[in-house]
Amino acid sequence: MQRLRVLTAGESHGQRLTAILEGMPAGLFVSAAAIDTDLGRRQVGYGRGGRMAIEADTVAITAGVRHGLTLGSPLCLDVSNRDWANWQEEMSLGPPPEGWESQQAVRVPRPGHADLAGAAKFGHRDMRNVLERASARETAARVAVGAVCRLLLAEFGIRVRSFVTAISGVSGPTEPSGEGFWEAVEASDVRCPDPDAAVQMREAIDAARECGDTLGGTFAVQATGVPPGLGSHTHWDRRLDAALARALMSIPAIKAVEIGEGMASAAQPGSQVHDPLELADENDLWPFRRLTNRCGGIEGGISNGEPLVVRAAMKPIPTLTSPLASVSLDGLQPTEAHAERSDVCVVPAASVVGEAMVCLVLADALLAKFGGDNLMDTRAAYDAYMCRLARLWE
Ligand SMILES: Cc1cc2nc3c(=O)[nH]c(=O)nc-3n(C[C@H](O)[C@H](O)[C@H](O)COP(=O)(O)O)c2cc1C
Repeated sequence: MQRLRVLTAGESHGQRLTAILEGMPAGLFVSAAAIDTDLGRRQVGYGRGGRMAIEADTVAITAGVRHGLTLGSPLCLDVSNRDWANWQEEMSLGPPPEGWESQQAVRVPRPGHADLAGAAKFGHRDMRNVLERASARETAARVAVGAVCRLLLAEFGIRVRSFVTAISGVSGPTEPSGEGFWEAVEASDVRCPDPDAAVQMREAIDAARECGDTLGGTFAVQATGVPPGLGSHTHWDRRLDAALARALMSIPAIKAVEIGEGMASAAQPGSQVHDPLELADENDLWPFRRLTNRCGGIEGGISNGEPLVVRAAMKPIPTLTSPLASVSLDGLQPTEAHAERSDVCVVPAASVVGEAMVCLVLADALLAKFGGDNLMDTRAAYDAYMCRLARLWE
């Protein structure tokens, strides 16, 4: 991150999640309602477990905004955990009363979760001390941050959306196409616009739930209106593709990220991979157009004016109600892995988190390029740059 800084804090069953977002220019209109919309989108989805029925995420903006506008100071965003009411003793900040014994101690690591590696690293005997933070509940804080970034991007005509391309072996459309595509995505509880594929996805989730199993899948995030020139070829840590890959890979359970055709392009000759250029319409500010967009809108680590397309693959979540074999930390006895209330499939939610991370990376790249302590400065620099682009070829 070059211009923005983000920190999140909070345990899954703690009192609340907190995010601090620093580096936003002053003068951006920010409302809790806009953030709540994205928080709500993260919560829904076929395949989620009981926790999301308890929570009804809303944000409290506690700093960085006055009279609806950002001040240029750090924003503090709080999302309360309703479930905390049921966990106050387990998650108490002070030492427990004498003789108190945890009813929720985790002593048997779940294969695929952070339990064992985290306990070894931090020296915890109760792996709840690991899972409380490894839990993707933390992604609610990121979605709140992403929603603020989305508001900034909207000021420059940049729109970030996502859809689910597959759940386990069931695939839906892989490219956005046709009238009503995005409306159908938002109306679908699996974020798949094809009703037949969506039915099969739900059936696959039901079947997995039935036998105590879990499912992964893939999703795509698309950003339109991205100007050419975000990111840079000049140094590895300024590349936009690298920043996006890192951001998406940081979402729990995401195990692969690709830009554009990604993995598939490795098996094709160059003539089938690179995107030929042609002249755009005379009146277009940017005089180039592509016949295809296989590179996903990024060349040389820089946005090239085409829609940005990023895809991610999510592994099945690790908590199985038919648990895998594990070893108990109590006496090192072979036993079944720990099981607790859990989701069955969260690919739809992960795609909303993916949007948030793309919003964050793009907002950072936009501000790195155009700067500005006030949004008016950012806009002036953006307008000047777009004029320069149009004149560059005269
Ligand atoms: C939105 C979302 C919800 C998740 N819900 C669960 C869950 O209910 N149970 C679970 O075991 N893992 C869940 N996960 C995945 C774990 O958080 C993740 O697998 C774990 O932190 C280990 O990290 P790793 O898979 O990246 O190695 C969820 C992930 C996301 C993105």
